[in-house]
Parts: sequence; C-alpha cells; structure tokens
Amino acid sequence: MLELRQLCAGYGPVDVLEGISLTVPTGACVCLIGANGAGKTTTLSTIAGLIAPSSGDILFEGEPIRRVAAEKLVQRGVSLVPEGRRVVSNMSVEDNLLIGAYTRSDDQIGADLERVYQRFSRLRERRRQFAGQMSGGEQQMLAIGRALMARPKLLLLDQASMGLAPQIVSDIFRTIREINNLGTTILLVEQNARKALSIASYGYVLESGRISGEGAAADLLNSPQIVAAYLGGD
Ligand SMILES: Nc1ncnc2c1ncn2[C@@H]1O[C@H](COP(=O)(O)OP(=O)(O)O)[C@@H](O)[C@H]1O
Ligand SMILES: [Mg+2]
Repeated sequence: MLELRQLCAGYGPVDVLEGISLTVPTGACVCLIGANGAGKTTTLSTIAGLIAPSSGDILFEGEPIRRVAAEKLVQRGVSLVPEGRRVVSNMSVEDNLLIGAYTRSDDQIGADLERVYQRFSRLRERRRQFAGQMSGGEQQMLAIGRALMARPKLLLLDQASMGLAPQIVSDIFRTIREINNLGTTILLVEQNARKALSIASYGYVLESGRISGEGAAADLLNSPQIVAAYLGGD
C-alpha cells in the first residue's frame, strides 16, 4: 500500500531523513521505532504531505504521491493521527470528529460518526463538551476517531500512547489492533517499542534519519541489539 524509496526530507537546507526506504503491505500493521529525534515524526509528516521531500519517492497504492497536497491525500485515504493529539480545545468533541470528515461530500458521514461513538462510548457521552476538557486518553481516542472519520485506507499513528497511564495505553493499543483487524493498514510510530512490536507484524528501526534495522516484529523483540537499545527500560 505504501512504499518509501530513498526518501530525504527536512525542515531547511539540511535533511533530517537521509534516504528512508520502507514498505507497508496492504492490511499490515508496521511499526517504526527509534529514539527521540531520530526522525519518526518527520517521516510520518512527509508521508502525509505536510513536508515536501527533497528527494526520493513515496508510492501509495503504486502511485507517486510526493507532490500531492495533504488534503488530497486525506481524500485518497491517508490519515495522520499526529503526535500530541492536536485536538481543537475550544470546539466540541463532535465538531472535532466532523473536522476529520471535512474532505468528504458523501452521505455516510452520520453513519461513520455513529460507528466512532460505538467504538469510543466516552466520546458519545462527552460529545457536547469542549475537547480541551477531556483527559489525555480521551483526547487520544478523539484524535483517532477524527482520523477514522476520513475513512482511511492507511492510518499513520504518531506516538498514540505517549504520556498516558498504563491501562489507557493498553486500551489504545487494543483499539489500534482492532482497527487493523477490520482492514485498515497501519504505520505506527512509537517510543513504547515493546508494545508497538507486540501488535505489529514487521518493524523498522530509525536512527538519525536512516533505517538501521528491520525485521519481523517477533524477531526484533528477540534481538539482543534491539532489546539493549530500545526495550531495556520497558
Ligand atoms: N519543525 C522543525 N524545524 C526544524 N527542525 C525540526 C523540526 N521538527 C523536528 N526537527 C528536527 O528534526 C529531527 C527529527 O525530529 P522528529 O522527526 O520530530 O523526531 P522523532 O519524532 O523521532 O522524535 C530532530 O533533530 C529535530 O530537532
Ligand atoms: Mg516524534
């Protein structure tokens, strides 16, 4: 579904990503792990069309998308759940969800809203409240629900578990797995590498803007180098 070929991108004259190549097969859940500052957010932002690559290619469903605008990518089925949730604090939960459907013009938006409320009953209970009044975990559910409102084929998740209590982290990972089981392809960025590798089928390790390792998630979980570098403290 997604292929990066020698992708280079950054924020100024100097690239942060120095030739990233990776593949996300249709239906898979693939994770990208790496230390703070490795370039994980930059990778997802570039795929989502928020940063223009300086070189390399991004293929989505076999088509080059490196020059496609972010809102067009949402329409084509690429949705990002950004790091830090980025909900609109002074808008209601329901209006935040509807933002996720702003590129749509079909008549299924109400049905999809109902589906999001079935998945996240807390959001239904709080649909008239300001998003900013909700807990971190609820805001993360809102950010995921908002992305689902675009009917993504490919869901990009940036540190969805960050800063949440262990029980909420488990809920979020269970939700991600369910969304994947229902057919949405997922590329997951996490610092919680052990949890990410436990729900992903394949993983890539990002180090200073380069892929330094990759493999089946089960193999990475058992790799002494990966354990020492990324799983030690978990
Ligand atoms: N908006 C920005 N402007 C300039 N440099 C940035 C910006 N965002 C991130 N960077 C730099 O890019 C590098 C990778 O950052 P990032 O992709 O956020 O890493 P990660 O998500 O893996 O923690 C870091 O050195 C960071 O300082
Ligand atoms: Mg990041």
